[in-house]
Amino acid sequence: MTWLVTGGAGYIGAHVVRALLDAGEQVVVVDDLSSGLRRKVPDQVVLVEADVRDRDALARALATHRVEGVVHLAAKKAVAESVAQPMQYYRENVDGVLSLVEAMTDAGVSRIVFSSSAAVYGSPDTDFVREETPTIPMSPYGGTKLVGEWAIRDATTAYGLTAIALRYFNVAGAGAADLGDTGANNLIPMVLRAYSNGQRPQVFGADYSTADGSCIRDYIHVADLADAHVIAAQRLASETTPWSVYNIGRGVGSSVFEVMDSVGAAIGEPLNPEVVQRRAGDPARIVASAEAARAGLGWSATRDLDDMVTSAWSAWQQYPPS
Ligand SMILES: NC(=O)c1ccc[n+]([C@@H]2O[C@H](COP(=O)([O-])OP(=O)(O)OC[C@H]3O[C@@H](n4cnc5c(N)ncnc54)[C@H](O)[C@@H]3O)[C@@H](O)[C@H]2O)c1
Repeated sequence: MTWLVTGGAGYIGAHVVRALLDAGEQVVVVDDLSSGLRRKVPDQVVLVEADVRDRDALARALATHRVEGVVHLAAKKAVAESVAQPMQYYRENVDGVLSLVEAMTDAGVSRIVFSSSAAVYGSPDTDFVREETPTIPMSPYGGTKLVGEWAIRDATTAYGLTAIALRYFNVAGAGAADLGDTGANNLIPMVLRAYSNGQRPQVFGADYSTADGSCIRDYIHVADLADAHVIAAQRLASETTPWSVYNIGRGVGSSVFEVMDSVGAAIGEPLNPEVVQRRAGDPARIVASAEAARAGLGWSATRDLDDMVTSAWSAWQQYPPS
């Protein structure tokens, strides 16, 4: 079956593309290369260089390649930037969903896996976030993901789509050396960048109500996440529930200081982090309940934080970001 993967030249999308190919699926990528890299798209995969808001380009890609399902990852994802530029984030992320769903319904394509985020929950007052936990985003970025979910959910009712939204927690690591995360905003690449530049890595706030004062997150290996997409995509063929949502996390919380310790162990040198101001829109703790994905998709993570850190460090050394 042929899948159109939007954002397939990005960090997570490139892993999803390879995992789908490994599972015997055909793939076409739509990506505007605003943050993605052409080199991450395998030679046998067609890259359509277009904005997901360009409905005509999507319609052509869906028809030309006889696409039967979509994995929609293309989006802007920097929380702090979304606080500063909310309109741009709603325009990019929500319009992207709307034009994609319209192009799909026009083309008779009914299956979609949607990249959502733990950011839809905001700052939930619970140790383990379940899919039923109220969604009260703290940032415009989280808001765009929640509105995207609503639009797709409503399209399942109106137009007969079948959809699975995956709410990723904090994605890290590399499934292959050439696919490492070079993003400016995720913790592990930020720490590696600081180390490589001879600077102290920064901790954004150490006065949160957590054991060591730094924020706690649920880190998930990008290769585990890519496997979850393949399972979700293949599940859509036989899925009788038109709309489902799953947390994709490990159910294990790690603090920023714990991540820095793991990075220090991987590089063989303790880090000397510098505590600076909190960032806008950062909740103190957010850790998934991973039970629904285990029960509903038969998926659970197999890799731990040290696997993420060592694979990220190895990728960073072999493919240093320019
Ligand atoms: N990285 C994380 O920890 C995390 C957590 C939760 C959710 N997500 C979601 O996962 C998805 C992928 O994130 P990522 O970390 O791989 O980011 P990324 O920036 O590496 O990838 C995004 C890709 O989408 C492309 N893109 C962006 N806007 C586009 C547009 N309008 N049209 C076409 N292509 C466009 C970019 O060029 C890039 O290749 C996003 O939807 C993000 O919100 C990421």
